[in-house]
Amino acid sequence: MRSAEFVLALLIAVAALVTIARRLGIAYPIFLVIGGLLLGLVPGLPRPDIKPDLIFLLVLPPILYTTAFFTPLRSLRANLGNISSLAIGLIIATAGAAAVVAHALIGGITWPVALALGAIVAPSDSIAAAAIVARLAVPRRIVTLLEGNTPLIPAPALAKRIRPGLELYLKFEGLNPTGSFKDRGMTVAVSRAKAAGARVVLCASTGNTSASAAAYAARGGLRCAVVIPDGQIALGKLAQAMVHGARVLAVRGNFDRALELVRELGDEGAAVVVNSINPDRIEGQKTIAYEIVRQLGGRVPDVHALPVGNAGNITATWKGYSERSAKEGGGVPRMMGFQAEGAAPIVRGARVMEPKTLATAIKIGNPASWQGANDARDRSKGLIDMVSDDEIVAAYRALADLEGVFVEPASAAGVAGLLKIGPTGALGEAKVAVCTLTGHGLKDPERAVQVSPKVETVNDDLAELRKALLQ
Ligand code: F0G
Repeated sequence: MRSAEFVLALLIAVAALVTIARRLGIAYPIFLVIGGLLLGLVPGLPRPDIKPDLIFLLVLPPILYTTAFFTPLRSLRANLGNISSLAIGLIIATAGAAAVVAHALIGGITWPVALALGAIVAPSDSIAAAAIVARLAVPRRIVTLLEGNTPLIPAPALAKRIRPGLELYLKFEGLNPTGSFKDRGMTVAVSRAKAAGARVVLCASTGNTSASAAAYAARGGLRCAVVIPDGQIALGKLAQAMVHGARVLAVRGNFDRALELVRELGDEGAAVVVNSINPDRIEGQKTIAYEIVRQLGGRVPDVHALPVGNAGNITATWKGYSERSAKEGGGVPRMMGFQAEGAAPIVRGARVMEPKTLATAIKIGNPASWQGANDARDRSKGLIDMVSDDEIVAAYRALADLEGVFVEPASAAGVAGLLKIGPTGALGEAKVAVCTLTGHGLKDPERAVQVSPKVETVNDDLAELRKALLQ
């Protein structure tokens, strides 16, 4: 074979291997190595005269790429925006280096062909290099507590109760650093606020947003002010905001009023508002969709159920799924949001002036992302329904009893919803369902104690203890 034909064959092989590798989600250098070894077996192919420094140049890109493979994509994506000029520089540099290697290795090819070969190899490798640079830069630039990567727990016992044959998974967001899903968005919102020179972040909250904002502000060296509805947030959340040094103000009014006031303060420019009306929060929170599909080995769930309060989470989760599908294919789940019966403005189609529910996290009568929730429901052919407090508590206890997972009451609304609609046939042919469990049970220990059997006290006497235990 002449050199030109050899190069052409090599180009086609590389393109094919890269395509296959991308489809399978495998680092393509592995394919290149396998392909190279196979090519080596073909008799009569020109044998390049490999010098040690060239070997170094040749192995460098796969090493870079493989290292990048272990870089969490989240931080790569968050950083690439800031280092795009660096990335372009790296593409040019890597293309040049690869061209030199190709020219030296494959005798007789012309420089344009060598450059073309280099250009094929370069983009991925330079992104890999950029990722490494980004990774080195992460601790300084991004305010993070290493949120995300929460477990996706199979829940066969609950699944059976919802609909036989259903595969149910619980995305336990209560295992984020501050115990709720808010951390995914807060890392982006606080990092960007800090980068823009803000000194104070501000939020209205039913508790979890304030806990998260307080922690990330502390970590980022910013001040944090939180406005909560007086007497209506769970003890654990209040404790978090306080211990992280936030300025906590309780307004005599509900969450909706607190958010209105915070918005006005934000408009005055005194502080950056880190509620989910801040688009950075949505960008961070959408990562959950990518993570779930990865954890399911590339499968997209048929149904995704979650509680709905201010509706930022359903908006973000849907954004994640739809953007992922537009890029990588595979479809989207039906989004199923559940509000508490006494706080169900979206279901009722009108603002609720005095929302009521024991699930204080979603005690919201005028969701800021109302439109986002409607879009998620309509575009995904899903639904937004409501569950009673009794159904929420039943799901809360079932999660703890049947699956060993302790969540706060609002977090059980998604499961309560599936338990409610499962028997009605509303799940259709769905095979795989995912529920976001938004917050940890320890956030609201008072509720746990209240719905559980009382602790008995006995004397320090073995016989009495034995009798009581074996009763
Ligand atoms: N579950 C929990 C545990 C929450 O804290 C929230 C919202 C939701 C569900 C609902 O999510 O608002 O995006 O629809 N908590 C906000 C807060 C309002 O201030 O902590 P959403």
